[in-house]
Amino acid sequence: MKEQLEAIQQEALEKINTVDNLKELQEIRVAYLGKKGSLTSVLRGMGQLSKEERPIVGEMANRIREAITASLDEKKEALEKEALEKQLEAEAIDITLPGRPTNVGGPHLLTKIVEEIEDLFIGMGYEVREGPEVETDYFNFEALNLPKDHPARDMQDSFYITNELLLRTHTSPVQARTMRKYGGNQPVKMICPGKVYRRDTDDATHSHQFTQIEGLYVDKHVRMSDLKGTLDRFAKKMFGEERKIRLRPSFFPFTEPSVEMDISCKVCHGDGCSVCKQTGWIEILGAGMVHPNVLEMAGYDSNEYTGFAFGMGPERIAMLKYGINDIRHFYTNDRRFLKQYHQA
Ligand code: PHE
Repeated sequence: MKEQLEAIQQEALEKINTVDNLKELQEIRVAYLGKKGSLTSVLRGMGQLSKEERPIVGEMANRIREAITASLDEKKEALEKEALEKQLEAEAIDITLPGRPTNVGGPHLLTKIVEEIEDLFIGMGYEVREGPEVETDYFNFEALNLPKDHPARDMQDSFYITNELLLRTHTSPVQARTMRKYGGNQPVKMICPGKVYRRDTDDATHSHQFTQIEGLYVDKHVRMSDLKGTLDRFAKKMFGEERKIRLRPSFFPFTEPSVEMDISCKVCHGDGCSVCKQTGWIEILGAGMVHPNVLEMAGYDSNEYTGFAFGMGPERIAMLKYGINDIRHFYTNDRRFLKQYHQA
């Protein structure tokens, strides 16, 4: 019986040694240690042994069972580890593959210019206001000293919706709205950025929809020199401290006197070149002292209050600042164009 047990142990250990998968390993476990396994059936014959032999064989059988069990467990662990490693290897991610590039966006150049101008005027104590793009004839024209049939209405070809409603042709109606809100007895210092619309044919310098920034300062004792100082500060901050400004007489129905402001040419510093069409100067914006009629219509006593106003096109400012030669670039959303200004 001892020989039998030893033979079983040797055979089992050899088989365990050579097996290479978990399924067969489990079969071996059943074949030797299971209820009908060979070790079990040998032990069943123990009853025929003598009293003296029984404990010796019993002890031996236990040792063999333990040895086989230990060997099975050890092999099981090894096989499981091997399987896991194989799986990890098969599912490995190649981290050296280049990733798919994502398109990173950024604020539109126009948004940035508008914010830059806003910051500049906020720094001088202005508040930022907005007004409706669909405007009444009254605020777009009449409250700005442009009665019906006034010939100057032709300066701004308009998109009418009804006889009394139109797409605003400029941001100046927000002047009138803001003054009215302040009720004729408080100072006003505001800028208003926004979209405006004109019945123009789109080309390199015209767009049926573009942007304006309006400025208005009304108080007691506001003088033309205040306007000049403010615009000079704006021009130098925006284009460089070496720039000079010049005011030329002009006409707007809502300002008197009216001016147009030029800045000295960046390329020739005033000598004349192709950029400034040999004049040395580049036109930037319209401005003037608020017309007494406009103040009165908004409820301000024009003997007590005076003010200045200005209006500029941020597209034009950006075009001059960055050498952009076509206003349509702002609206056609070509990423090759827009991307260049993400860092600007
Ligand atoms: N609203 C004028 C325009 O669109 C610009 C302007 C604003 C002029 C304020 C003077 C004062 O042309």
